[in-house]
Amino acid sequence: MIGVFDSGVGGLSVWREIVRLIPDAPLTYLADQAHVPYGERSLDEVRALTLRAAGWLIARGCRVVVIACNTASAAALEALRATFPTTPFVGMEPAIKPAALHTRTGVVGVLATPTTLRSARYASLVSRWGRDLHIIEQPCLGWVEAVERMQSQVGSAEDAELRRLVGDCVMPLLAQDADTLVLGCTHFPFLRPWIEQAISAWQAAHPVAHAVTVFDPAPAVARRTRQVWLELTLSADGTPAREFWTTGSAGRFAQVASVLLGYPVPARLLTL
Ligand code: DGL
Repeated sequence: MIGVFDSGVGGLSVWREIVRLIPDAPLTYLADQAHVPYGERSLDEVRALTLRAAGWLIARGCRVVVIACNTASAAALEALRATFPTTPFVGMEPAIKPAALHTRTGVVGVLATPTTLRSARYASLVSRWGRDLHIIEQPCLGWVEAVERMQSQVGSAEDAELRRLVGDCVMPLLAQDADTLVLGCTHFPFLRPWIEQAISAWQAAHPVAHAVTVFDPAPAVARRTRQVWLELTLSADGTPAREFWTTGSAGRFAQVASVLLGYPVPARLLTL
């Protein structure tokens, strides 16, 4: 079984890529919604919560664990590998490298949580790939919570509120000439329609503005997960088991996850 972990529903943006790529893999999703958002907690706190969650997934039988959360990866990846040396972990990091290779203006906007942005892992990423770039860090306050309570998609009652929330963070980056936006939090791909709306609105108002590319590392994480899975030759027969657990409200997780994934998602409550 492959375990997929996030503080909340954001990791489902990675989950759906894994399901697309390895549809025969049995999967267990764990959302630590009793403690979401991680992105405003200390790195020590996030590390402790992540170690506990990963321990549960491994005890449940997961042979590979995907940390589908940039914040948890930034805080805990090394500690996870040291604590559970026989389990392969697939982590995440903001896609600064592909953005650096792609940008024409040299200006990269990084959308991530405050905790990711102040981690040593993030600093080392920037020192490796961002030295010649103007990197603008955008902590996107309120975005994670907005996805956690998302009830519907574009055109809904929450549409105007999301357009404002997202536009307020994205527009200043475009105004500073960013031509690449890095989605450094797994909740943010679910705000993609509003990010694209902000980009279109900006371009409509500034006809000579640069084209803007948005980077989501989820497909690359899914490819890496498939590679690890195949190396372990853990192929399964028959209908794969898929389960969803949350330390928060199972009803609420099921409701929001069904909206985000577009099909019914049953969830179970876990007390860690
Ligand atoms: N989805 C997580 C990430 O990728 C964290 C969101 C949060 O709990 O703040 O960083």
